[in-house]
Amino acid sequence: MRDFLLAANWKMHKNPSETRAFFAAWKGVTASLPQRSARGGRFRVLGFVPALNFSAAVDAAQGTGVELGLQNAHHEAKGAFTGENSAVVAREMGAEWLLVGHSERRSLFHESDAWTALKVDAGLKAGLKVMLCVGETLPEREAGQTDQVNLRQLAAGLERVDRAILETSRLVIAYEPVWAIGTGKVATPEQANQAHVAIRAWLAKQYGAELAGRTPILYGGSVKPDNANQLREQPEIDGFLVGGASLEVASFSALAGADLK
Ligand code: 13P
Repeated sequence: MRDFLLAANWKMHKNPSETRAFFAAWKGVTASLPQRSARGGRFRVLGFVPALNFSAAVDAAQGTGVELGLQNAHHEAKGAFTGENSAVVAREMGAEWLLVGHSERRSLFHESDAWTALKVDAGLKAGLKVMLCVGETLPEREAGQTDQVNLRQLAAGLERVDRAILETSRLVIAYEPVWAIGTGKVATPEQANQAHVAIRAWLAKQYGAELAGRTPILYGGSVKPDNANQLREQPEIDGFLVGGASLEVASFSALAGADLK
């Protein structure tokens, strides 16, 4: 009975007026979205929007059911951290989610596993749901280290999370192979499913099979309307974290429509 999560990650795209236009158009498709996932859980839509657009998104998304989140936050609630954003403030503004450990944060902004763990903890403590991203680079895949890398990032990222948190269903995992992000090179459905199997097995070892069994694991990396159906047929894929195809209502809603069949 796992939920299916269709999550947009807009990265540093869209200004407030584009944000408002997106949600105005999204209201036109909400009636045709599925209520339930093919696996019997809920079908949910998430939007990770740029922090500067957060207010605009909160207003514009009202009535759509889209659960909004921040793409990154500092692990402290407040303080002398010039340029950073607080998860606590995001929560006050209406955020429900925090994205942590995206590969762009790890590679472009040099965020370590240790920082990632602090952010996971901070997001949960602020009352947010957390989506923790893991994923291997191409050289790591070619060296046969895919599972090893994913499980290292998982273990490090969840170091501060105890079992009680998983009980609250406020933690989900997104597997995003770095080589598939923004490249048009999507993982094959089998590659993605295999990685998810290893992630769920690790969760089961740590937290027990029942909890692992109800934790959604999303796939991200060049998800498009023409490959979404095959991916979602994989038993371990419980949703998508979508960059490029989430920017337009037509392509993003087509991904949702994939669940209608
Ligand atoms: P693309 O869908 O553009 O490959 O981006 C994936 C991603 O990084 C989502 O977080």
